[in-house]
Amino acid sequence: MISYAFHRHLRGFIKPASYFLILLLTYYLGYLSAVPKNPPSDTPLHHYSATTTANPLPLPTQPQSSDHYQFQTRCTDPIPPELTRQTILHRIFNGTSPYLGFPQPHIKPLLRQKRIKGWGSNGAVFKNLIHKVRPTTIIEIGTFLGASAIHMAELTRELGLNTQILCIDDFRGWPSLPNQFRDIKMVNGNSMLMYQFMQNVIEVNATESITFLPFSTGSTLERLCEWGVFADLIEVDAGHDFHSAWSDINRAYKLLRPGGVIFGHDYFTVADNRGVRRAVNMFARVNGLRVKPDGQHWVLGSF
Ligand SMILES: C[S@@+](CC[C@H](N)C(=O)[O-])C[C@H]1O[C@@H](n2cnc3c(N)ncnc32)[C@H](O)[C@@H]1O
Repeated sequence: MISYAFHRHLRGFIKPASYFLILLLTYYLGYLSAVPKNPPSDTPLHHYSATTTANPLPLPTQPQSSDHYQFQTRCTDPIPPELTRQTILHRIFNGTSPYLGFPQPHIKPLLRQKRIKGWGSNGAVFKNLIHKVRPTTIIEIGTFLGASAIHMAELTRELGLNTQILCIDDFRGWPSLPNQFRDIKMVNGNSMLMYQFMQNVIEVNATESITFLPFSTGSTLERLCEWGVFADLIEVDAGHDFHSAWSDINRAYKLLRPGGVIFGHDYFTVADNRGVRRAVNMFARVNGLRVKPDGQHWVLGSF
């Protein structure tokens, strides 16, 4: 009798105890999977290769444990500036200039001899910075029809500089582009934006100084970092939403040569309080830099 009662009592205890244990185990496993996979907060998040010459601008001082700060690709050591053009031609265009044989006969009737449109593309900031930095390499992130790239090519030419300008743009514009720019033709859903840009570059005789990388900004900036393609001047003017601007600025900053300057457009438009301006201000704060407005443009530095 005693043994039966004892066993019943024991069963009554074991059942809730095992529920409790299962509950405890589940909670523990859940906790383990939720522990952040980011580096501990005292790990510096700067991105420069140990062998890369030090960048004069201060490194990030406020490491964060959020995905917003995970731009950690380490760049290869910089290639010499004089190898920039041939590196891009070799890596992207099988070693041949994409301007060769352009425009093909079936494309020519779709293009205008010259069709330029830009936004703040001739602003004083370009002259100010080119005179100050005297760049050997410029990276432009967001090119459209080449207005600002061509302006920079002319400024560097005037100074007698032998500057390579690398233009990153997927040449897709944005979804309402075909309605806004009806004269930029479309063939089977493919905008002629890139071809019109090329035509504009040919028209001003700048094919030797302006090279383009017709892909998304994120993947292209990552490749430039892997290939060791750095620049003295970087202009950011592609996607204007916060995430695009934030990603472009973070990736581009890694590609600055010592003494280089990064700048961009649309610091003051109303929408950019949530987009470009927020990204620029946040980047400056995290990296201990200052923002110096120049017209509608922003310039980052440690002035
Ligand atoms: C404002 S326009 C550039 C204007 C040019 N800087 C000028 O002043 O003449 C923006 C360009 O960024 C490009 N763009 C936007 N987001 C991009 C992305 N994620 N990857 C590649 N290009 C992008 C668009 O195709 C467009 O041509």
